[in-house]
Amino acid sequence: MAQEDVFKKLVAHCKEYGFVFQSSEIYDGLSAVYDYAQLGVELKNNIKKYWWDSMVKLHENVVGIDSAIFMHPTIWKASGHVDAFNDPLIDNKDSKKRYRADVLIEDLMAKYEGKMDKEVAKAKKKFGESFDEAQFRETNPRVLANKEKMDAVHTRFVAALDKNDLDELKQIIIDNEIACPISGSKNWTDVRQFNLMFSTDMGSTADGSSKIFLRPETAQGIFVNYLNVQKTGRMKIPFGIAQIGKAFRNEIVARQFIFRMREFEQMELQFFVRPGDEMKWFDKWKETRMSWHKSLGFGEDKYRFHDHDKLAHYANAATDVEFKFPFGFKEVEGIHSRTDFDLKQHQEFSGKKIQYFDPELNKSYTPYVVETSIGVDRMFLQIMSEAYQEEKIEKEDGKVDERVVLRLPLALAPVKLCVMPLTKKDGLPDKAREIISDLKFDFNCQYDEKDSIGKRYRRQDAIGTPFCVTVDHQSLEDNTVTIRHRDTMAQERVEISKLHDIIENEVSMKKLFKQLK
Ligand code: GAP
Repeated sequence: MAQEDVFKKLVAHCKEYGFVFQSSEIYDGLSAVYDYAQLGVELKNNIKKYWWDSMVKLHENVVGIDSAIFMHPTIWKASGHVDAFNDPLIDNKDSKKRYRADVLIEDLMAKYEGKMDKEVAKAKKKFGESFDEAQFRETNPRVLANKEKMDAVHTRFVAALDKNDLDELKQIIIDNEIACPISGSKNWTDVRQFNLMFSTDMGSTADGSSKIFLRPETAQGIFVNYLNVQKTGRMKIPFGIAQIGKAFRNEIVARQFIFRMREFEQMELQFFVRPGDEMKWFDKWKETRMSWHKSLGFGEDKYRFHDHDKLAHYANAATDVEFKFPFGFKEVEGIHSRTDFDLKQHQEFSGKKIQYFDPELNKSYTPYVVETSIGVDRMFLQIMSEAYQEEKIEKEDGKVDERVVLRLPLALAPVKLCVMPLTKKDGLPDKAREIISDLKFDFNCQYDEKDSIGKRYRRQDAIGTPFCVTVDHQSLEDNTVTIRHRDTMAQERVEISKLHDIIENEVSMKKLFKQLK
């Protein structure tokens, strides 16, 4: 099935089974804003717990905070967001659609990359075991032609970004005959800068209201609390402050479902280090974060680092962790060495001294910062797109059955087990409820007595439940049940008293944490 079709099915599945709904749907929806439904919120909470515990619980020099979304407006002046948090926009005069100029150019480069990958995949199929991919990429004329075109665009693109040259961005679009994806027209306006922050008014007009911003990143809430946390927590450098929270950006190219939203959630760490030590910590956090991603078990080839083409004015190193989504490799997390820019700016704009006295060096300095910043929603999309599978199952009678199964990492699954009485009578429902009342303190459980057992299994497969427990007449006699595993569909008879340990052993987050570097 084409990857685009898989993605469409995934979006429909998210709605059908109660993971994600369009915001304000009964009013025809609000663009690029989504609500997490009854199962979605459970999965999202589990993702956040996996991140929080791995950062805060497992690192003794990292603590967490939860700062307010509303902050003093000067913070955004100091951070540079008022003046420079812009996207370069371009309008198509015929379709009247607005695009990010940089995204149009990136999409073109991705197209060349896609063509190269296709050639490689074809050759791999043809030559099998003996295929040498590196050599093929260096010698195949079609790959080389596409690479040359991509590199030429890339060189101009990086230079234009570096110089903030909006005319050159437009010229790249014209020279490469990039067309509006909707109308196919190449009739473009000039490129303009557009600030992405949402603003609102605080206080009544009579008292003199002030314009404040909805935070476009959670990081600034950490920077402005640096001194408070360092002092009250008696933190010694190196140390980190972690935070999970909502962020808001008036994205113009809001598409690909929850990949780019106007209201989204970030999980960020600001790690404060000695000046000069930042590259060592940058490398360390790159490794730590990649290991966190890979422990979910989706495969090594699904991830790559992508170093930034253009460094932000405050950064001396920056890379993205990219994941192979159904629509190609895309950023899920940014790792940035932010120097001492933010703390110095807040020192200057607030007039308060923000320094650290290092007893080992016997001197004071402004700490440098390494940041890791990941979107909860992009993690959610990544996990769902990897988990969604349509399978054909050969039955004993030779017929072929189909199932949709969400192969979610077991520790992240919204529901851990479903308990099902074989029939609605003979005391089986009571026995099933008894099992749930025992297990519900440790696991999110469901109860289901409707339809055939086969249909009930399918419903649980479709929401990624790792275990189904069936209560039958034998259960009343000897306190045993059948437990069925989602991935293998294998069933075994076990004692009810052993259920807790069997399930705990499989679904505990400890299993993921133990793999972390
Ligand atoms: N404090 C640094 C920072 O905010 P960023 O690269 O702009 O860096 C970090 O954002 C992460 O936040 C991204 O890697 C992405 O996962 C997520 N993110 C950013 N904009 C988003 C949006 N509009 N919708 C969903 N997630 C977004």
